[in-house]
Amino acid sequence: MNFLVLVSGNGSNLQALIDAERAGRFAPLGAGNGAASPEKEGRIAAVLSDRAGVFALERAKTAGIPALTEEPDRRLVQPGERQRDLSRRILCAAREWKADLIILAGFLSILRGEIIREYEGRIINIHPSLLPKYGGPGMYGDRVHRAVLAAGEKESGCTVHLVDEGTDTGSILLQRTIPVLAEDTVETLAERIHQEEHVAIVEAAAAMVAKLRKPE
Ligand code: GRF
Repeated sequence: MNFLVLVSGNGSNLQALIDAERAGRFAPLGAGNGAASPEKEGRIAAVLSDRAGVFALERAKTAGIPALTEEPDRRLVQPGERQRDLSRRILCAAREWKADLIILAGFLSILRGEIIREYEGRIINIHPSLLPKYGGPGMYGDRVHRAVLAAGEKESGCTVHLVDEGTDTGSILLQRTIPVLAEDTVETLAERIHQEEHVAIVEAAAAMVAKLRKPE
């Protein structure tokens, strides 16, 4: 079962997936290291970034995983057109690498069009808030944590959800919650949620492998 992992930055969530794969977390239960049925084991087939030179690509290369870059075409001035063009190229990569599951692990572009339909129920995204709160267009990175602190929320966390035509609107697969502390800053809150993301993305990918795995 092939994963295509989409990234835009540091790639610590990608690293969590790489480490989990090595630890046998995506192997069928009771299959030991999974070697008995490698076709049922989840593996990162390729990593694709929408920006060149990011550290996530280095992490992929270090792990011996093909590292691809597909940047948005700046000549396309309409955001919708740009998103659809990039999404088409990512769909081509997904087909080429025979991806069964697409994982958005800190991916900042929006996917639109055919890829959403062709991979319906097989694209997951991690978001650093308890959706549906603090999601939607423009809600990413520190903006999320700043809004959570400004609203005086008592708790926050992260969500892994299926990707649909909207932005952060797909069905929720799992959430991890942490308390917001009185002394929290954007940085401390972001850091603690990031740690939870590393657990959540692995759990969600493992659950998807189990769900998508063909029966014996
Ligand atoms: C994470 O906070 C994720 O939720 C958000 O982007 C960040 C990516 O972190 N979408 P990393 O690149 O995986 O370290």
